[in-house]
Amino acid sequence: MAKTDYKNNSSDMPKWLKKAVFYEIYPQSFKDSNGDGIGDIPGVIEKLDYVKDLGCNAIWLNPCFESPFFDAGYDISDYYKVADRYGTNDDLKKLFKEAHLRGMHVLLDLVPGHTSVNHKWFTESMKPEKNEYSDRYIWSDSVWETPKNMGSLTGICDRQGAVAVNFFSHQPALNYGFYKPEKKWQQPVDAEGPKATLKEMMNIMKFWLDMGCDGFRVDMAGSLVKYDRESLGTIALWQKVREFLRKEYPDAAMISEWGEPEKSIKGGFHMDFLLHFGPSHYNDLFRCKKPYFSGKGKGTCKKFVKKYVENYEKTNREGLICIPSGNHDMIRLSKTIRGNEAKLAFAFLLSMPGAPFIYYGDEIGMKYREGLISKEGGYERTGSRTPMQWNNGKNAGFSEADPEKLYLPVDDSKKRPTVEDAEKDPDSLLNEIKKLIKIRMEHEALLNTAEIEFINAGHYMQYDRFTKNERISVIINPSGEECKLKMKGKLIYSVGKGASLKDGKCIVKGGSACFVKHEADK
Ligand code: NOJ
Repeated sequence: MAKTDYKNNSSDMPKWLKKAVFYEIYPQSFKDSNGDGIGDIPGVIEKLDYVKDLGCNAIWLNPCFESPFFDAGYDISDYYKVADRYGTNDDLKKLFKEAHLRGMHVLLDLVPGHTSVNHKWFTESMKPEKNEYSDRYIWSDSVWETPKNMGSLTGICDRQGAVAVNFFSHQPALNYGFYKPEKKWQQPVDAEGPKATLKEMMNIMKFWLDMGCDGFRVDMAGSLVKYDRESLGTIALWQKVREFLRKEYPDAAMISEWGEPEKSIKGGFHMDFLLHFGPSHYNDLFRCKKPYFSGKGKGTCKKFVKKYVENYEKTNREGLICIPSGNHDMIRLSKTIRGNEAKLAFAFLLSMPGAPFIYYGDEIGMKYREGLISKEGGYERTGSRTPMQWNNGKNAGFSEADPEKLYLPVDDSKKRPTVEDAEKDPDSLLNEIKKLIKIRMEHEALLNTAEIEFINAGHYMQYDRFTKNERISVIINPSGEECKLKMKGKLIYSVGKGASLKDGKCIVKGGSACFVKHEADK
């Protein structure tokens, strides 16, 4: 039946990951259980049934560890401790347990590339006297010599040297060594300092995995070894991590924020995120002047599909590519894609290979809040991080605190979407997403590791998903023009203005999408 041979090399992948549909939770803004104005882990536990009912069986929780929160927790000051504002380590342990009881899995966010300047490792490493942490970060040997092509801090302490930073200036880069060191202070990857950093990162992973966590989304995974143009050093480093996990935690999932699947999958990651920057053309579909999924029919998916197919081939089906609906770093989807357009966008997101990721609130079309003052290093990302809108009660059901005490203001517009309203409306995006996830789960050809073959990437998109037992054609037509295709089989899903299948002819009206299950070969 298959035009292309079914080839699946994902045997090394945790079984649960092959059927995982993720829900990303930004803990600050999901559910406040104790009325202090900020979301917390008991709040996440309270809402697990909601996430499950949506159809998601896995969670990615943004960093919830001790931090001064200058980058919303991506600036960690203690990797082994849940930040007080979110609860305790025991609460997190309970979250893992409660998720497992519901057949769900939880990924934590691992931030291996940098810490906060407040981390004890860093304050120790600033000391001029040699100590255990002197080589934990990348220090040059003179305050006058700042590391080339990297941000750095200099003149901040009596240690003679400048220290490299990884992202914001308060996030000093942990030392995993240089691929080809050129100066004495640039340590090779197998020097004691870099080795100790990696060992500690693995201890951290062990600590949370032993507590019941199911794996990690890894922040800036491709940035660890420095001056590593081809990423060979960083790939080798992750291969070591994979080796350790394979032996000790074979069910732990590893998903990278890297955006170059040909590298990350070689490094042993099970999945890699498509990023909204770099070469992916992800934004062509969702977030640009003329997004493909906007109903105006002026956008194009050509470059996206070309790049996707290129990447897909390079992964050799040994790992997968994840396409998120959004995340805490992007402008919310609803700014550019609304109503019926969003349903088509989700028909795409939930029928592609790789685990889908739904960013909290995207399922009800939560708005990007313009003009908010930056919070915790969010800058323009802040508008995508506002409290979840559960119902029409106080603070939209997010928190019992006084509104001025909230982490970020709740959308108080009359027409704001809420879970309560969306659940009651049979035509809501939320209910469409539930339907889509259900169909995905019922068909092996739509699951994460089933193959994809693109047939068309024009005003409509057509791709086949298949395994050796089943083939399903997905047709998504966001344009104003209908499309007619020759096709036999059964219409198993349609959304939008209308799609029909009769006498071997499939007609998909503009603004519609459908899935057709092929007849099995006789
Ligand atoms: C990527 C994270 O998603 C983002 O929120 C963070 O600011 C940077 N990495 C730095 O850790």
